[in-house]
Amino acid sequence: MTKSVTDAVRDRYTCRSFITDKPVPDDILRDILDQARQSPSGGNVQPWHTWVVTGDSLKGLQDAIAAEIKEGQSGGQNEYRIYPEKIGEPYRTRRFKCGEDLYAAIDIPREDRPARMQQLAKNFRCFGAPTLLLFALGRDMQQGQWADMGMYLQTIMLLAAGQGIATCPQAAWTNWTEIVRAHVPIPDEQIFFAGISIGYADDTAPINNWRTDRAPMEELVTFLA
Ligand SMILES: Cc1cc2nc3c(=O)[nH]c(=O)nc-3n(C[C@H](O)[C@H](O)[C@H](O)COP(=O)(O)O)c2cc1C
Repeated sequence: MTKSVTDAVRDRYTCRSFITDKPVPDDILRDILDQARQSPSGGNVQPWHTWVVTGDSLKGLQDAIAAEIKEGQSGGQNEYRIYPEKIGEPYRTRRFKCGEDLYAAIDIPREDRPARMQQLAKNFRCFGAPTLLLFALGRDMQQGQWADMGMYLQTIMLLAAGQGIATCPQAAWTNWTEIVRAHVPIPDEQIFFAGISIGYADDTAPINNWRTDRAPMEELVTFLA
């Protein structure tokens, strides 16, 4: 049985440990991607392009990035900036706290840079997920269509959550865009946007057993009457 939208919104979280040998059945994954087409977009432009990467294709991509990391490379192949060059308050503090809470959940102290780097590198093994979705949009697309991309990704993640399927949205892959492009046929006229690792959560993993907090509604919403 699928969950209500309210329950799916509440239950979705960024999963960072998946059961590797339990992929989402093909018909369910196709159904999620089929339904996600209902996501809204300005002018109904539907700017999103999606690749589903599994099996040897996924392993090839992961191994190629792992080899670079082993060589001491750190990527830097982004085609767009993820955060502002100088992120102001209150966003800076929120971002910092998110990182601190994450590492605290798995007992990695701030000073232990190698352990933090190792944890970060797990992004590029999809945190064990057997399937990776990759997304791109046309280079000529504007802020409006970038916002549409966010809605599309969230639609996919909520449809997944509605069925007890876990997801991890990942901008991290954009750090290795050239390698992604060598393994996935994203046309040159498109910008590689982000990925979502998808599968079933390892509920016993400590990294899956903490939750991010949110600013109170009063801080975010202004009611005018
Ligand atoms: C566009 C986008 C990109 C993200 N990229 C990453 C990523 O590369 N690696 C990661 O571990 N989490 C990533 N996240 C997850 C965020 O850290 C997470 O959504 C946020 O902290 C809120 O936590 P929650 O998703 O568990 O509610 C990303 C989220 C979004 C929406």
